[in-house]
Amino acid sequence: NSRKVIFSGIQPTGVPHIGNYLGALRNWVKMQREAEPDDQLIFSVVGWHALTLPQDPRKLLQTRNDTFAALVAIGLDPERSIIFHQDQKEVLYFTRTRLAISRNANDESEVDESMLNTGLLTYPVLQAADVLAYKTTHVPVGDDQQQHLELCRDLAESFNRSTNNSLFPLPETVFNPAKRILSLKDPSAKMSKSARDENSRILLTDDTITIRNKIRGAVTDSLSGVSYDTEARPGTSNLLTLLAGCLDEDVHAVAERYKDKGHGALKIDVTDVLEETLREPRAEFFRLRADPGHLQALADKGAERAKEISQRTLAEVRRLVGL
Ligand code: ADP
Ligand code: NA
Repeated sequence: NSRKVIFSGIQPTGVPHIGNYLGALRNWVKMQREAEPDDQLIFSVVGWHALTLPQDPRKLLQTRNDTFAALVAIGLDPERSIIFHQDQKEVLYFTRTRLAISRNANDESEVDESMLNTGLLTYPVLQAADVLAYKTTHVPVGDDQQQHLELCRDLAESFNRSTNNSLFPLPETVFNPAKRILSLKDPSAKMSKSARDENSRILLTDDTITIRNKIRGAVTDSLSGVSYDTEARPGTSNLLTLLAGCLDEDVHAVAERYKDKGHGALKIDVTDVLEETLREPRAEFFRLRADPGHLQALADKGAERAKEISQRTLAEVRRLVGL
């Protein structure tokens, strides 16, 4: 049986940036388009995972809802795929505890009793619980998730072994070959939601003028002409990566077209192509956000479908372990 169950999640950090889109989300839409009819696709906004770090509750609610809206806005289809809020499922996620850890093996009185953030350990376990609840076979993730998936496979394998069963498929990592998008202001760092300077990232909701201003202000270099050289010319190369990413073309082929042009021409074209790429998702995002009732109905439906599957898996787990 080669039926695929594809599962992935995104943090509830709000409107995604173009790095999230080219590096992960667009690939989810592609997988949806290319899936066989009986393949199952499941995408979740992992609200509970946000609690690994301190959060402002009102702000979190907004960014959580915006993240969900963005998934639908980019073309994930709530009929074809299951799109849901992980936090609509019953989980208690703890990330802080008092652990007695001796700092000095020779002196047991020297014990550190402060609250420890155990999220580093509990985060990947919660993630594995998500992945395995749907008997996932394929997980599209970034390369930073490789270790987490390794742990997930270990947990699945040890459960299968201890119950002498093969309930859980060992989920395969599906890597996205897309190149990393860098900060427009500091091309030594990746484009990120958490960077302080808002001009360092392009959001899915940025309007034409905002895109133009951010690209115009993007850091490049003072060399003449345009060439792709990530070591010597990270800022210029990043613009080429953005352009090639949006056009879904090879970056070297794109660079070749600009070798006799300047940064000005490159920036104009990057701006146009970003506008072209974002126009529809942006409009769809604002349409969705204007109707919170509709969004909630979509989320409820997704959560219901997700629960149906995970409850079936749990029933099998209970039977196997004798509960
Ligand atoms: P951020 O770092 O902005 O908070 P996340 O860590 O939530 O983003 O990442 C969500 C997804 O987007 C992951 O699959 C990650 O690999 C991808 N991603 C994040 N930033 C970038 C980037 N600058 N370029 C390409 N992909 C990215
Ligand atoms: Na991150």
